Amino acid sequence: MKIRATLLGTVFAVAGFGAANAAEVSVTCDTVGQGHDLCVKQVKMWEEKTGNTAKIVSVPQSSTERLALYQQILSSGSNDIDVFQIDVIWPGILGSHLLDLKPYSKGIEKDYFQPIVANNTYKGKLVAMPQYTDAGLLFYRKDLLEKYGKEAPKSWEELTATAKEVQDGERKAGNDKIWGFVYQAKAYEGLTCDAIEWVDSFGGGGIVNPEGDITINNPNAKKALELAASWVGNIAPEGVLNYMEEDARGVFQSGNAVFMRNWPYAWSLAQGADSPIKGKVGVAALPKGGDNGKQTGALGGWQIAVSKYSKNKDAAASLALWLTSKEVQKMNALEGSYNPTIPSLYADKDVLKANPFMGELLDTFSNAVARPSRATGANYNKVSNAFYNAVHTVISGKATANASLTKLEKDLKRIKRKSW
Ligand code: GLC
Repeated sequence: MKIRATLLGTVFAVAGFGAANAAEVSVTCDTVGQGHDLCVKQVKMWEEKTGNTAKIVSVPQSSTERLALYQQILSSGSNDIDVFQIDVIWPGILGSHLLDLKPYSKGIEKDYFQPIVANNTYKGKLVAMPQYTDAGLLFYRKDLLEKYGKEAPKSWEELTATAKEVQDGERKAGNDKIWGFVYQAKAYEGLTCDAIEWVDSFGGGGIVNPEGDITINNPNAKKALELAASWVGNIAPEGVLNYMEEDARGVFQSGNAVFMRNWPYAWSLAQGADSPIKGKVGVAALPKGGDNGKQTGALGGWQIAVSKYSKNKDAAASLALWLTSKEVQKMNALEGSYNPTIPSLYADKDVLKANPFMGELLDTFSNAVARPSRATGANYNKVSNAFYNAVHTVISGKATANASLTKLEKDLKRIKRKSW
């Protein structure tokens, strides 16, 4: 009895402390896969722990549109949103509006992947804590490849041929909805990721190199885009030109694609209890371009930041640290197959059991190709915009790769002027 009374006393004391200082903050959550529901659950846990409350503000799914909304809010100095989930490519764009989290993190960032911590450091300030990391992956139908005696393709040329063969075979067998390959080819940030993978895998570099030189107008980039243009209407539906992540997943998960390019989050859903393809999915590194190419995946991922204009900075920083904590990252990995940003979680048995690819494809995650957001700083969004539009005109058959890359180089020079 005595113990119980003491425990209750403690609970009331904590709740009482929280209530007296209770703050309300607003926060943006993830938008794809199970990220939103996980965030809602984790925000509730934080409310219970601290006595504070948090309002969840809904945001668009497209990273491009989400950035436009954030810029609108932050550039007016508004405090409408306290806690922002931000893309790995945004610290250089939004950094000047974000709070330095170092006084709150108390050094915990040393337990996180250091390249991401460096990425999130803007003018010496830790403007965001890493939440999860992403790399583009190839998802494939194990059962279909087995049926046709094929392996997961090592090159894009092989993928193109296998996708066509299996697609044609399955159509003959009566599945007229099946496609060979689905991915993200709408004109938005997602296409920048897919296309940088094609280009880099052919040895065509990363649009702009780390020194800031514009490198995209090269023969390997041209080869990559020409091959990608051949997919549309052949192994990929015309509609792919308007697909984002969840569109591709919808087609693949309903059993209507042989291959899909997507991020790790798609794994937990494809393997979910109600998934028609549960148990039939394989995950591999994306193919290389040609014989001399390399396997690569775009580096993505999300961070949690706090607005400099927040009226409740302490509560907002506490929520940001909670949403990026080891406990939350483990939950995200187990329930939503989101890759942790804390190296020690890659040695966690539960995490590896739920997501075997996190161990098997460690190389893909460590060698992912970064978009040139560091080199181009605040101009990155313009660069990406020019790139995905140029790619979109090629893959939708409106311009040749040659003409489009020549124009892109000119556009990028105009954006750069003397320096980024
Ligand atoms: C994923 C990545 C992110 C990228 C986006 C593009 O969410 O984590 O970095 O910008 O996809 O759609």
